[in-house]
Amino acid sequence: MWKPPERIRFAPARGRMPMADEARASRLFSPVRLGPLTLRHRTWVPAMVPWRSNEEGEVTEDVVQWYARFARGQPGAIVIEATGIRDVPSGPLLRIGDDRQVDGLRRLTRAVHEASGGRTRLLVQLIDFLRIRRRPEPRTFFERHLALTPALRERAGLRHLDEAAARAALLALGPEGWAQVLDPRDLQSLQFGARETVNDEHLPHIRALPAELPPLFAHAARRARDAGFDGAELHYAHAYTMASFLSATNRRSDGYGGTRAARVRLPLEVFAAVRAEIGPGWAVGCRFLAEECIAGGSGVDDSAWFGVQFARAGMDFLSTSRGGKFDDAKQPGIGQAAYPYTGRSGYECMPQYLSDARGPFGRNRDATARIRAAVREAGCDTPVVGTGGVHHFEMAEEMLERGECDIVGTARQALADPDWALKTWLGRASEVRLCEYTNYCEGLDQKHKQVTCQLWDRLELDEPGLRTSHDGRRRLVAPPWREAPALPEDAEPA
Ligand SMILES: Cc1cc2nc3c(=O)[nH]c(=O)nc-3n(C[C@H](O)[C@H](O)[C@H](O)COP(=O)(O)O)c2cc1C
Ligand code: SF4
Repeated sequence: MWKPPERIRFAPARGRMPMADEARASRLFSPVRLGPLTLRHRTWVPAMVPWRSNEEGEVTEDVVQWYARFARGQPGAIVIEATGIRDVPSGPLLRIGDDRQVDGLRRLTRAVHEASGGRTRLLVQLIDFLRIRRRPEPRTFFERHLALTPALRERAGLRHLDEAAARAALLALGPEGWAQVLDPRDLQSLQFGARETVNDEHLPHIRALPAELPPLFAHAARRARDAGFDGAELHYAHAYTMASFLSATNRRSDGYGGTRAARVRLPLEVFAAVRAEIGPGWAVGCRFLAEECIAGGSGVDDSAWFGVQFARAGMDFLSTSRGGKFDDAKQPGIGQAAYPYTGRSGYECMPQYLSDARGPFGRNRDATARIRAAVREAGCDTPVVGTGGVHHFEMAEEMLERGECDIVGTARQALADPDWALKTWLGRASEVRLCEYTNYCEGLDQKHKQVTCQLWDRLELDEPGLRTSHDGRRRLVAPPWREAPALPEDAEPA
């Protein structure tokens, strides 16, 4: 992963730790409405892909155990990882593209509701993504993938050679020659692996996205509702299809690209289709980027404007993230695919403890506050979820007090200690296992390995019946909080 050159070292802090009475009277532990849904607390576990599914994209026992463990910490809401809306092979990524997946997902929602005593609400993040290939061997690229166009032949002076000879001559040019004769897109495919973008309107399936995506999202949302989820988060963030429509880099010429109004058109049409499919009684919102953090990308003025459009359209919540784009990703090794969290924008998404003067904590606060202010100025009371480097009560409470957001997301802190919010609510914040922002978990995610936290994955490996990683070396869920008290009486289910 890219790291800021300053490499200033930051350590997490506990902040001011509230006694139980103060915690219970706090904003963080007060209820909030998301349209038809009420969260008991304003603590939120944002989507995190843990690579626990299988090649069929099914809910496995490991998926169930993973989320049940978060649920035992009783956050206000958990958002299930990015879940594919198409029924196509996607490696061990969870899928919701076919009715046959509903039973497994129902098992998951039941397990979470049970493990939290009915106190945690469960949403699913719905994702669509475009095709990306692994970085090819140069020989394979020149012999099989590269389109040998007349323009390329002309540029390379290969007009008179037959196809096989021309391809061999191109291969022999080597890196400097390739940089001179290949067009930028082909060069990128050679160096990074071919990647489709929403701008590829010459490809029929890319041209068809505005017609195809609304029903795909709508059917996925219907399945989620049937499976017992309390709501859905449309994934409009990071490097994926819907974020690419919102991006300032979207140059489509079909009325879905260019101006802000055109870029937000498909995201609004997707939402309208979802709403039409499931009606008003079920929570639907989206996650989108407060800032893309890439050259030529959307900034906070764009996202504040988008936020207002989403709120006016009737979304039940807005959740923000930042960065995480392919545009500035590091070059992958041969045979590997580019990963959108390896460049500067990836750092903005999941900042690490070696940072610049701004540090890794709360990097998205200002931009999220701008979005929320614009939404309020437009007369909408849509709740906004703010996430990024939050790991203690004082910071979360300050964000709420200042009106920067209405709900506080903690991804890695919840991974480090799924009981952090419960411990804090009980006045036992001193027992929280603090995330150190090492990004060991994110490194596993990058390799599509089962995600765990280095602070607990080697602990208590002799626990009876323990489920471990494929290599048997790591436990797959955080150890139980053995000192957890029986819940006090006012801990009624919401
Ligand atoms: C292992 C891992 C997987 C993630 N997967 C997703 C995902 O599926 N969808 C998403 O929107 N964000 C994903 N994220 C980003 C987090 O939701 C969150 O925005 C980010 O980690 C910053 O918040 P934090 O500082 O509280 O960790 C992932 C993060 C991690 C560490
Ligand atoms: S591995 Fe654990 S401590 Fe390190 S960043 Fe991830 S959650 Fe935090």
